[in-house]
Amino acid sequence: MPSNVIVGLQWGDEGKGKITDLLAKKSDYVIRYQGGNNSGHSIHIKNRYFVLHLIPSGVIYPGVKCIIGPGVVVDPKSLIQEIQNLESMGINTSKIFLAKRAHVTMPYHCLLDQYQEEFLGDRLIGTTHKGIGPTYVDKISRTGIRVLDLLDLKVFYKKLKYNIDVKNKIFIKIFKKKPLSFKSIYEEYIEYAKILYDRIIDAVYETHQAFHKKKKILFEGAQAMLLDIDYGTYPYVTTSSTSTGGVCVGSGIPPNFLKNFIGITKAYCTRVGFGPFPTEIKNEMSDVIRQKGNEYGATTKRPRRCGWLDLVALKYSCMINGINYLVITKLDVLSEFDIIKICIKYKSDDQVLQYFPAKIKQNIKGIYIDLHGWKQNISHIHEYIDLPNNCKKYIKFIEDFLNLEILLISVGSERNQNIVKNKSLFFKIFN
Ligand code: GDP
Ligand code: IMO
Ligand code: MG
Repeated sequence: MPSNVIVGLQWGDEGKGKITDLLAKKSDYVIRYQGGNNSGHSIHIKNRYFVLHLIPSGVIYPGVKCIIGPGVVVDPKSLIQEIQNLESMGINTSKIFLAKRAHVTMPYHCLLDQYQEEFLGDRLIGTTHKGIGPTYVDKISRTGIRVLDLLDLKVFYKKLKYNIDVKNKIFIKIFKKKPLSFKSIYEEYIEYAKILYDRIIDAVYETHQAFHKKKKILFEGAQAMLLDIDYGTYPYVTTSSTSTGGVCVGSGIPPNFLKNFIGITKAYCTRVGFGPFPTEIKNEMSDVIRQKGNEYGATTKRPRRCGWLDLVALKYSCMINGINYLVITKLDVLSEFDIIKICIKYKSDDQVLQYFPAKIKQNIKGIYIDLHGWKQNISHIHEYIDLPNNCKKYIKFIEDFLNLEILLISVGSERNQNIVKNKSLFFKIFN
């Protein structure tokens, strides 16, 4: 059974958690393939709110196997806490598994993340301080500690000793900070390995076997296209391959296992952290969107920067990800406005750009068209036909510009606040 992929198309927080949860109902597996606990994926079911950081957003369904894949970087302390939180909310966590090959985020990674940011001064990225970048750096440097290393005390001892020695030199000499104690970290992480032991699997074989048994597999992206290490707004990006291209690398499967590439976009744009944002709104309208859309980071609680929908960036994201179908979320948030702007080109210096440039200059501005708002609450609507006309025009404009079909429209955070736009197609894909 060919698999489906969900990715974010903007700067993260598009509602991947909500949509993955929705589609997980029809899945046997949900697999994360990159990123770490820098993610915050929210799920809202009646009066219960979940925020997942490492655990795939299929976990609410007891029958769905959730794999934290080989390409993810895992902070075991954070993972154990997340499992305990879910258990305290009555969620069955017995189907959460962790790939042996995943790299482990250690306390020195989190400190390095923080110290490097301090050192960058006004060039800082605004990372989540979760140690994600330094963990991937060690992976690429071939000095990282993998989950399977935690299971072999001698190997773990040697690898940790090397890493602590090197990092302590950096902490003391470069950052003028205190060194870390090897012994306490060694002992602490051995305990984490014991707690997680039964969940540690060879995820590559598990995934291939599942595929050959015709199981339905949903790959859940974290972060999003414009935060991709290669194709995002570098250097203001995260450190993994967030695109659909990252699925194969991060889960050990070939491209021909994959079929539908579902891109999630908000009906507007947000960004947490620093970096270019061509359609950012710099007046009180931004606060209106932030309040209405509750645009505060699910991981760091930072206020998200808000802006109009950027179709130039969206087209670029769809192109790189090979998106077949779109999901648009948070359309309800735009119900406030008389006029809704959509960016269709950029102006940079004196040039008009129709494409997303490799380097975005500070002075880049969006060129917009104005569409009329609908000024009525849509969050209770379940049928496309019942949407106000101006709302349909907004949807149609996006579809025409991108030459893509919007499969699903989300009009509220709750699991059932959705409009399936093309029902036959939707049920064909997710049945
Ligand atoms: P993710 O990282 O892509 O999973 O997104 P986040 O969970 O970080 O942020 C999305 C936020 O929007 C969460 O608080 C969701 O509960 C909420 N949300 C998702 N879809 C909708 C929607 O259609 N309307 C509204 N108002 N909120 C939504
Ligand atoms: P989800 O999966 C939004 C941003 C950070 C920072 C940059 C680098 O919830 O969409 P990092 O800690 O990854 O080195 O930070 O990336 N960032 C996110 N922004 N949603 C996320 O995840 C993010 N994960 C990282 O704010 O700008
Ligand atoms: Mg998020």
